[in-house]
Amino acid sequence: MLGPIPVAKRVGRFSYAIRNIVSEARAVEALGMRVRYLNIGDPVAFGYQPPPHLIEAAERAMRDGQNGYLPSAGILEAREAVAADYTARGVSVSPDRVLITTGTGEGIELAINSLVDDGDEVLVPTPTYPLYTAVLAKIDARPIYYRTDPANDWLPDLAHLRSLITSRTKAIVVIDPNNPTGAVYPASVRRALIDLAEEFGLTILADEVYGDLGFEGPVPPLGTLDPNAAIISFSSLSKAFLAPGWRTGWMVVGQTPRLNGVLAAAQKLADGRLCSPGPMQYAVTAALTGDRSHQVAFRKDLAERARITTESLNAIPGMRCIAPKAAFYAMPMVTLPPGRTDEDYVLALLRATGILCVYGSGFGMPASMGSFRVVFLADPSELATIYADIGAFTRDYLAHAG
Ligand SMILES: Cc1ncc(COP(=O)(O)O)c(C=O)c1O
Repeated sequence: MLGPIPVAKRVGRFSYAIRNIVSEARAVEALGMRVRYLNIGDPVAFGYQPPPHLIEAAERAMRDGQNGYLPSAGILEAREAVAADYTARGVSVSPDRVLITTGTGEGIELAINSLVDDGDEVLVPTPTYPLYTAVLAKIDARPIYYRTDPANDWLPDLAHLRSLITSRTKAIVVIDPNNPTGAVYPASVRRALIDLAEEFGLTILADEVYGDLGFEGPVPPLGTLDPNAAIISFSSLSKAFLAPGWRTGWMVVGQTPRLNGVLAAAQKLADGRLCSPGPMQYAVTAALTGDRSHQVAFRKDLAERARITTESLNAIPGMRCIAPKAAFYAMPMVTLPPGRTDEDYVLALLRATGILCVYGSGFGMPASMGSFRVVFLADPSELATIYADIGAFTRDYLAHAG
């Protein structure tokens, strides 16, 4: 009899904790316990929906017969809307430097594949959104982790970052506003990141998918500080336009001619997947040129939930939570007894309470630091119950886990 078909080796290197952990939750559900999923940053799962004018635009496109393949870089009107939006925010860019992508995630994948060879290094923050390390694992390139510091509002440790640059370094990943910490970087830090990248000829992969979700208002794109720096920016309809399932985003390649080859490479790679989802591309124009009042309301909701999160978690003995300034994540840390890991804590929390968070080591944090990510999109009364349960569990865990 023939044996099992072997799986490619790269799959062993690939990990994406945000989804991997769901199998643990299913096991808990199978025992009859209700699971509260705080693992994935999906506003729709918590009752939000895309604004009606986006739905109308996508629906109209379908009814008007826009159901065929589209240009691989995306339809011109969407690319024009993205270029106009960046230009209005202070980064002058032409539509021919924009690609419409299957979410931010595909932009990240296209950019990395266009820039990075196997064996090359990319500087990735800890904690990081784990897609960067997952994509690097697939192409056998190396993530090199630079610290962001909880004692300094989760800002990048610039000296550490500089010390990690080698002749193999190709790019620096900057996630601002940040998932999973909710940090927003001040202009001085952003300026220093650009200066460092430019000093060493590195490209910045600027993940700006939460740019409209700063609690004090939209955060300008990084490129506003230096229009000639080698910056590739990514965003999408997923977060600030509440349509993550549409898988529609964009990648904007900075105007410097130094990036022309990378732009051409990304366009070439994009040809291979024909196009990103068609009807949703028509919603990009609606999103970027239409009414954004939903964002005002959403930011207000998020700020309120962030406040409840920070106050409730900091009231738990042994737990510390830096106040997020954007998005819908917080990264609390619990002082673990020696020998315990963040994963151990998170799984014990899940099994005892049905609350599913993601352990910080899934974002590249040291397991002993006891960090974990909370998605705080649930409504305030449910959050209050969740944090009371986390508090009761943690008191018990710390008392007995030693
Ligand atoms: C920092 C960051 N980048 C990218 C993504 C992927 O977003 P998209 O749905 O646009 O692919 C996410 C999703 O959570 C994210 O948090």
